[in-house]
Amino acid sequence: MFPQVRLRRLRNGKIRDMVRETSLSVDDLIYPMFVDENIDLPLAMSSMPGISRSPVEMIADDAKEVADLGIPAIILFGIPSTKDEKGSSAWGENDVVQRAVREIKNELGKDMYVITDVCLCEYTNHGHCGVVDMEHEQILNDPTLPLLGRTAVSHALAGADMVAPSGMMDGMITAIRDALDKSNCSDVPIMSYAVKYSSAFYGPFREAADSGYSFGDRSSYQMDPANSDEAIREAELDILEGTDVIMVKPALPYLDVLYRIKTEFKMPTAAYNVSGEFAMLKAAARLGWLDENKVMYESLLSIKRAGADMILTYFAKDLARMLK
Ligand code: PBG
Repeated sequence: MFPQVRLRRLRNGKIRDMVRETSLSVDDLIYPMFVDENIDLPLAMSSMPGISRSPVEMIADDAKEVADLGIPAIILFGIPSTKDEKGSSAWGENDVVQRAVREIKNELGKDMYVITDVCLCEYTNHGHCGVVDMEHEQILNDPTLPLLGRTAVSHALAGADMVAPSGMMDGMITAIRDALDKSNCSDVPIMSYAVKYSSAFYGPFREAADSGYSFGDRSSYQMDPANSDEAIREAELDILEGTDVIMVKPALPYLDVLYRIKTEFKMPTAAYNVSGEFAMLKAAARLGWLDENKVMYESLLSIKRAGADMILTYFAKDLARMLK
């Protein structure tokens, strides 16, 4: 007890660094990138300062810039030239993501770990993450599963190192694992967006990925922000279905969930520091209300401290430059 015990003794000089429990490194980062087959020049996102969609022809150079900063991985989102009810341009050999993966892999090979987001929402004309019964405005789970399997296989065959299903359909990991295994892709790992909340923090992303929806919202398939026991069940099922990495998304408003998930399963765990979390800090920094580098570092450090092994973040390039 005080006065014998004084915690301040270790807070000064070199020893402060030596007792530090959590560290943040560029090796922890996954940078989200958007590739758009409708454009010839980069298209800036007004609500995500510094983030642009890239044309297919430029995506390899843009990925090289990321690799040169020492960032080990990217996650790719595609914006197709045509959308339909089923999202048919999600799985073609020459569709936007498949082309982009080939471009990046040709240029960078093993120097960039390429993860692809597997979801239909950017490819459907209604903007939902699955097949829809239009008459009843319902998002149908089971008819969506083979389409996700097919999409994942097409990404893997194009050269993706890992696939990341984000559509929150029940059984999606089983469907994708089976499809990959049947197509000789049993070595391609899955990162499941296992615990994905129905969150208003995705707002800016929907502009970035052109994935707003024509009716309703995503609450019939994404989780209720009020629930955390349910997050355990979601993660457990995806682990049983064979996912290799589990993700919690968003990150900062759900650090308690992230902590529970890591503590419970001790699985490789990712957290998605989403578009709204990024936009908030950027906006406050622009107004001069917060020190951008400091709040970025503290936020990402908190996500690691809570249990993330890796962080998907739009700050990846900013952090890499800051750490250099
Ligand atoms: C699509 C998807 C979304 C995000 C990643 N994949 C949006 C959504 O589910 O509405 C959000 C990413 C972000 O906000 O940064 N399934």
